Amino acid sequence: MRQILIIMTAMLMACCSKESEIIAQDNIEAGKTLVVYYSYTGDSKKISETLTSQIEADVMRIQPKDKTQKYEANNYAIGTQLLNAIKANPSDANSYPAIDDVSITDLSAYKNIIIVTPLWWSQMAAIMQTYLFNYGPQMAGKHVAMIVSSASSSISGVVADAKRLVPEAIWMGDVLSIKDSNRGNASSLIQNWLRTLNFDKEQAMNKMYLTIDGTTKSVILADNDATKALVEKLRQGPVTVTLNSSGGFEIWGALGFSLPASNQQITAQPGDVILYNGSNICIFYGSNSWSYTRLGKIDGLTGNELSTFLKAGQSNISVTLSLTSGVTAVNDISGVKENSEYYSLNGQKVTMPSNGIFIKNGKKVAL
Ligand SMILES: Cc1cc2nc3c(=O)[nH]c(=O)nc-3n(C[C@H](O)[C@H](O)[C@H](O)COP(=O)(O)O)c2cc1C
Repeated sequence: MRQILIIMTAMLMACCSKESEIIAQDNIEAGKTLVVYYSYTGDSKKISETLTSQIEADVMRIQPKDKTQKYEANNYAIGTQLLNAIKANPSDANSYPAIDDVSITDLSAYKNIIIVTPLWWSQMAAIMQTYLFNYGPQMAGKHVAMIVSSASSSISGVVADAKRLVPEAIWMGDVLSIKDSNRGNASSLIQNWLRTLNFDKEQAMNKMYLTIDGTTKSVILADNDATKALVEKLRQGPVTVTLNSSGGFEIWGALGFSLPASNQQITAQPGDVILYNGSNICIFYGSNSWSYTRLGKIDGLTGNELSTFLKAGQSNISVTLSLTSGVTAVNDISGVKENSEYYSLNGQKVTMPSNGIFIKNGKKVAL
């Protein structure tokens, strides 16, 4: 009897430790990262945008083939139907709803993949399941992490779906759960989560990007306290400043915040990005000697290209500083428009909703 008990306890422990494997150990691997997301009502899209404002990554949106479906209509009947079909026969490709072709079909360039998915009826949204059914096998041996967006449900069912669909992944860290109750803090939740995956160390940013009039150029950052503080600031999101030409050699203006200066007398050269007086940024298309703190240098532009890019001689030049090269979206063509229609709780479309609780974009709203 004692022996049986010991065996049963051992089996139970084995089963439970297996269950927590996805809440795992590994961190980011050096190399390219892909963020892949599906979003019906816009929450996962927003999460992906916040995420990619904090890390360098390509991003790919998954879209259903049929963009007319109202998954929430009739008490979520269509969403339920899609999930039930998968559950009934998870190894049959025909059980999964069709999705648009994806533009990245070969994942071999990516070391890290972050999946951002909504939760549907405590499972992974059916559209994302289709993508992972098709491409999960290519994620074998890659470092994979996941963020799940839900209204309030716990995400263990989504974790189980991910394990089934991407069985050979090396899972990074805990799966991040973003619910309506903590959605307002999504940016800092993501920032802290990325730290647990060591993204901050691996992607110890030695680069930032400047965007002027839709053109983006990279800046190789100097290694000092000012750039560390600047990167930290930009992890919270891009910063846009308004700069003016001055002296025939620079565009400059207030950053709107201070950085720790370590001023030295230097002769700034074309392409140099400089901190002046602790809280001003100067970007040079000519040369000047002053007591400055070096922030970095614009990568690979000739003098003429620099003057054009920086709008030399002009005023009120809007310059955006960011850690990502802006629109890295490779397949981010919006398909499903956010739905402005209202439904009653039993799924009837309501043309002029007033006074009551309705479903809009898959969520309950009180009017
Ligand atoms: C078909 C369907 C089923 C859903 N089921 C649940 C659920 O069981 N529990 C929950 O908390 N939220 C549920 N939701 C709400 C979504 O998980 C939540 O609003 C999520 O943030 C939506 O992400 P998205 O805007 O990226 O599509 C459901 C939404 C849909 C459309």
